[in-house]
Amino acid sequence: MEKKILISPSILSGDFVNMEKSVRLLSDWNADLVHCDVMDGVYVPNITFGMPMIRAIRKITDLPLDVHLMITKPEKYVEEFADAGADIITFHPEASENALETIKLIKSKGKKAGIVINAKVDIKPYLYLIDYIDMILIMSVNAGYGGQKFIPESLEKVKIAKEYIEKNKLNVDIEIDGGINEDNVSLVKNAGVNVIVAGSAVYKSSDPKKTIEILKK
Ligand code: DX5
Ligand code: ZN
Repeated sequence: MEKKILISPSILSGDFVNMEKSVRLLSDWNADLVHCDVMDGVYVPNITFGMPMIRAIRKITDLPLDVHLMITKPEKYVEEFADAGADIITFHPEASENALETIKLIKSKGKKAGIVINAKVDIKPYLYLIDYIDMILIMSVNAGYGGQKFIPESLEKVKIAKEYIEKNKLNVDIEIDGGINEDNVSLVKNAGVNVIVAGSAVYKSSDPKKTIEILKK
């Protein structure tokens, strides 16, 4: 079954002085999800924000919160992120002591769970986890910063994930994150992606609504 294309703008490229406006605008622009990049300065060099930000954003939008945890030992925090209002929680499996247990913990809170395959991480050892998740996120840049250049080799991982999902008749979304714009979006959609993260392409666009429309098409 063909899945609808969903756009998940990353608020990392939003205005940190006026995050309320940056989040509220997403509904006007017909975005589908709000992508929240949580970085701990350990798993990735950069530090962004944590549970208080998720709790604050939860109060001002009805869009689902797509929370991408770039943190070590995500199992320590997933319940708190769920309580803060996350709808989908994705984490990097190699950063977790026990990825399957972490998935189960997220699901036990009634939330959607996903794993993230970072640009330098091989997907094959983690394919079995797709049986237990709602979404797999393929990084098309090295996790850590917005505004980087798309890595075309990530498309191969999208295809491997799609093949596994189809072969096993699973209902799992494939999300891509990093360097997606109006020029390369068709490549990722053709490879099998149905959830598209876009930070700078949306927030730095002169017409973000139009950009989202193009990304969706
Ligand atoms: C990178 C983050 C991405 C990033 C996307 O570590 O996970 O979500 O903000 O931003 P763009 O679309 O600008 O690459
Ligand atoms: Zn992200």
